[in-house]
Amino acid sequence: RTATRDTEIRGVPIAEGDKVGLLYCSGNRDETVFDDPARFDLRRGRSPHVGFGGGGVHYCLGNGVAKTQLRAIFNELLNNTDGIEVGEPDFLVGNFINGVKHLPARVS
Ligand code: HEM
Repeated sequence: RTATRDTEIRGVPIAEGDKVGLLYCSGNRDETVFDDPARFDLRRGRSPHVGFGGGGVHYCLGNGVAKTQLRAIFNELLNNTDGIEVGEPDFLVGNFINGVKHLPARVS
């Protein structure tokens, strides 16, 4: 992103025109916003996460599709299975996306 005006983030000055790398996965683990941010917790309820963006013109266009799919997946797992066992994830290597490439799983 390119700063449109001089500002400051957590004491770090940012000048108009500066290039800034924005990492949403870091924002979702902000301990001043989320309790125990690294814990996967389905009971958090409505959460001010920035997983689909922080609002504005580039907010994820597919967020409705993604949320519908995730609701369907968790609905099936919670209501129609006995459980799921997961193995060790194989992560993507990259600076921009913190993603899982493969995750062995067994649904019973
Ligand atoms: C869990 C799944 C998904 C996550 C976490 C996700 C996350 C994101 C994020 C963080 C952005 C950038 C927001 C920004 O720059 O402010 C984005 C943009 C976008 N996403 Fe997604 N997304 C998901 C699924 C999808 C799906 C299923 C589609 C399409 C069907 C989609 C289409 C797009 C498009 C077109 C943009 C660019 C919007 C723009 O720049 O104007 N996304 N998404």
